[in-house]
Amino acid sequence: MKKIAVLTSGGDSPGMNAASRAVTKLAAAKGTQVLGALEGYEGLIDGAFRELTHVSSDGAIVIDGEVDTAGNQGGTLIGSARSLRFREKEGRAKAFAQLQARGLEGLVVIGGNGSLTGAHAFATEFGVKVMGIPGSIDNDIGCTATALGVDTALNTIVEACDRISDTARAHRRAFVVEVMGRDCGYLAMASAIAMAADAVLIRERGKTEAQLVEDIAGVISTGYSRGKRRILIIKAEGITVPCTRLVKLTEERMRPELPTVEIRATVLGHVVRGGAPSYQDRAVAGRLGFSAVTALLEGATDEMVGWLPPTPGGLATADSSVLRFPLDRVLTETASLIDGSSPVTKRRLALMEKASGVLAL
Ligand code: F6P
Repeated sequence: MKKIAVLTSGGDSPGMNAASRAVTKLAAAKGTQVLGALEGYEGLIDGAFRELTHVSSDGAIVIDGEVDTAGNQGGTLIGSARSLRFREKEGRAKAFAQLQARGLEGLVVIGGNGSLTGAHAFATEFGVKVMGIPGSIDNDIGCTATALGVDTALNTIVEACDRISDTARAHRRAFVVEVMGRDCGYLAMASAIAMAADAVLIRERGKTEAQLVEDIAGVISTGYSRGKRRILIIKAEGITVPCTRLVKLTEERMRPELPTVEIRATVLGHVVRGGAPSYQDRAVAGRLGFSAVTALLEGATDEMVGWLPPTPGGLATADSSVLRFPLDRVLTETASLIDGSSPVTKRRLALMEKASGVLAL
């Protein structure tokens, strides 16, 4: 392939830049030029590209200095968007025409569920050679143990909760801290264990508002009765009852028994999505980017490269920690992760059930 495109799509995640850098470097090393589509699929449809490589005076293909620098930064240099137009076949046809007009022979898509769904449609409808790289802080993508951004997001949550714990202990307060993750409770579960939080509230358990209030009240009274100064409850974004409402209802429920109870709500929100990528996100990005371009140049299409997937199968790559999976399998497994039927989700929940009695101690 003489020329390929790369794009980042959906919610940005730390490590997307590192993956774009790896894709560009490997392609350049193989003599392939790279264009970055700006704002994800939107740039593909509108023909808005940035040259990520150029040809030097001695004829070598070299990487844009900014792509190199951005590899160590959060966000995404080439921009991202959730493209409504690309969900329609008409939008995808426009994007295909743009690829053809520029002689672009392959595409690397870095993103989450929606982005990989678009990549699959593009590959099957138009025969475009497409490779996906999982990028989303939510960790809700099938066929991969982690997606780019998850590790950095967890480090950010842990740091924020350390700070909250300091002030909580000073005032002997309880905190309900909401973390992102859309419908997936992974960030909440993983950070709750790392923080030795008192409880974790996740959508996957299917509790009602009243049950959640009882659970929060229960861990607070147990914690205080044992002399704890900090009660930390991590709530996943997937639980749609707002933090402030849960706090208000729990305070009302507890006041008769504990008139001085003080609970605070903190929503970490987009703070969790920004920041320089951790070592792990950079390393995984580099290795996924390498394998994605290698596979693309070998003619692979309609696949995603996954990091140490827990499920057997897949075509081996030169990197033993990276496996290639057909996108339709990735999308099926992603759906089952979210609806709870996946063995991975069941394993996570079973582990949390076992941990919940210990967390509250
Ligand atoms: O998918 C990543 C994510 O950060 C989710 O955790 C969150 O629900 C959503 O994106 C927020 O999207 P937006 O930035 O469009 O508000």
